[in-house]
Amino acid sequence: MSRVPIMAGNWKMNLGPADAAVLARDILQETGQVTTVEQILCPPFVSLYAVNDAIRGSVLRVGAQNAHAEPDGAFTGEVSAPMLTGLVDYVILGHSERRQFCHETDDEVNAKLHAVLEAGLVPIVCVGESLEENQAGQTSEVVTRQVQGALANVTGADAGRLVIAYEPVWAIGSGLAATPDVAEEVCGEIIRILLADLYDGTVAETTRILYGGSTNPGNIASYMESPDIDGALIGGSALKKDTYTAMVRVTAGA
Ligand code: 13P
Repeated sequence: MSRVPIMAGNWKMNLGPADAAVLARDILQETGQVTTVEQILCPPFVSLYAVNDAIRGSVLRVGAQNAHAEPDGAFTGEVSAPMLTGLVDYVILGHSERRQFCHETDDEVNAKLHAVLEAGLVPIVCVGESLEENQAGQTSEVVTRQVQGALANVTGADAGRLVIAYEPVWAIGSGLAATPDVAEEVCGEIIRILLADLYDGTVAETTRILYGGSTNPGNIASYMESPDIDGALIGGSALKKDTYTAMVRVTAGA
C-alpha cells in the first residue's frame, strides 16, 4: 500500500497573522503545484484564518497545534476542536513541548484525540522519548506507552485516519537528528508493529508515521528512503520558504 507522504510544518509560537500569510503565500507560489506530497502548514491559532485565506483553493492544507478536549465552556484561553472545523484539516496533539511545559498527560492527549476525531479532523499525534529515557534504554517502553495511551478506546476505523509523529525530544531543535536507522526502527518496528497488534495489518499499513527532530533539506532524503517513515513534522526548517519548499521538492523527487 502506498501512503501519500506528508511535509508538515509546525510553526510553533512564531509568525502572527501578517507574517504567516506572507510565508503561506510564498510557499504556495513555490510548491503549490506539487501534488504528490501533502503539505500541511500549522501556524499559531491567531494566524489560522490568515493562512487558511492565503492557501484557499490550493493543495496546501492547514493544521492547528492543539485543541481542548471539551467542545465549549469555561476554559479561558482555550480553543476547541469544533471551533477549528472549516479552518483546519489537521490538529497536532501531544507535542513534547506541551507535554513538558503544559504537563499534558497521555490521558489528556487521548481525550483531545477523541474530540478532534469527533470534529471530523485528523490528529497528528506526537510521541517520543526524552534524552534521559533514551539513555536509559527506555525508548520502546515510552513510545509504546504514549501510542497506547493516545489511542485508548479509538476504533480501528478512526485509527486508520491518524497521523503519528515520532519526535525524540533530544532531537527537537538541537541539530542532533536521530539517524535514519534509529528513526526507521522506532517508526517501523515499534509504532507500526504496535498498530498491527492493537488493530490489524490494514491499520498498520495505512497509518502515516512521520519523523520529527532537526530535519532539513540536507537530511530529509535519507528519512524518506526509509520504508516506514512517511514524512516529517518540521520545526525550524518550516519557518523559511526556501528550506521548507526544498524539503517538499526533495520528497516529491523533483
Ligand atoms: P525542529 O525541526 O526544529 O527540530 O522541530 C521539530 C518539531 O518539534 C516539530 O514539531
